[in-house]
Amino acid sequence: MKTQQLNISVLKHPVIEDNLAIIRDKNTDSERFKNAVRKISYSLILEASKNLPMVEKTVETPLVTTKCRVIDKSIQVIIAPILRAGLIFSEAASELLPFSNIHHVGMYRNEETLEPVWYYDKKKNIIDNKDKVFVIILDPMLATGNSAVDTIENFIKKGAKEENITFVSLIAAPNGVSNIQENYSKVKIVTASLDDSINEKGYILPGLGDAGDRIFNTIE
Ligand code: URA
Repeated sequence: MKTQQLNISVLKHPVIEDNLAIIRDKNTDSERFKNAVRKISYSLILEASKNLPMVEKTVETPLVTTKCRVIDKSIQVIIAPILRAGLIFSEAASELLPFSNIHHVGMYRNEETLEPVWYYDKKKNIIDNKDKVFVIILDPMLATGNSAVDTIENFIKKGAKEENITFVSLIAAPNGVSNIQENYSKVKIVTASLDDSINEKGYILPGLGDAGDRIFNTIE
């Protein structure tokens, strides 16, 4: 896959790779897993929000008056964690973008068809101004991309512009990336790793297993 031709940023940093090795390790317990994901999540959210519109603001330092650039607060930023694993990114997103709205997306995967099944999408009219809305969708694992495409479609139906939607994952598979790009080529993808493939059950290889189970310690 030629990542440079696609709308995708794969973050490369020694600290990120160090933490990826921790979360991939099957012997890492839930507490260490969550800590390692949190460390990576700040970089992912910063990258996802790097093109938010800015405005000039006058600020008095203790010495002089100066002009600073700040995020244009007349925009609306919607943070959309896909339940349940996407919640792991919510803390970093709310901390870095405290003026954002959170819109939880409730979806699980039908284990046979691998198709997403919706169960929660509370506020139908969440978008105030279609020209000024930026959506950041959060899901640690971009595997088949079916939930991602459904979520993107849902935000476009609500009024978001494709080019103002960013999908953030910890690990992406080529299938998921292609699925998004073939359906919504203007959507940006931010990830910490582009892995090799997915298996017949839809798990990413090498991956890290079931992200929700590892975060919430529900491995049977
Ligand atoms: N969801 C997960 O939690 N893990 C995968 O590998 C793929 C989808």
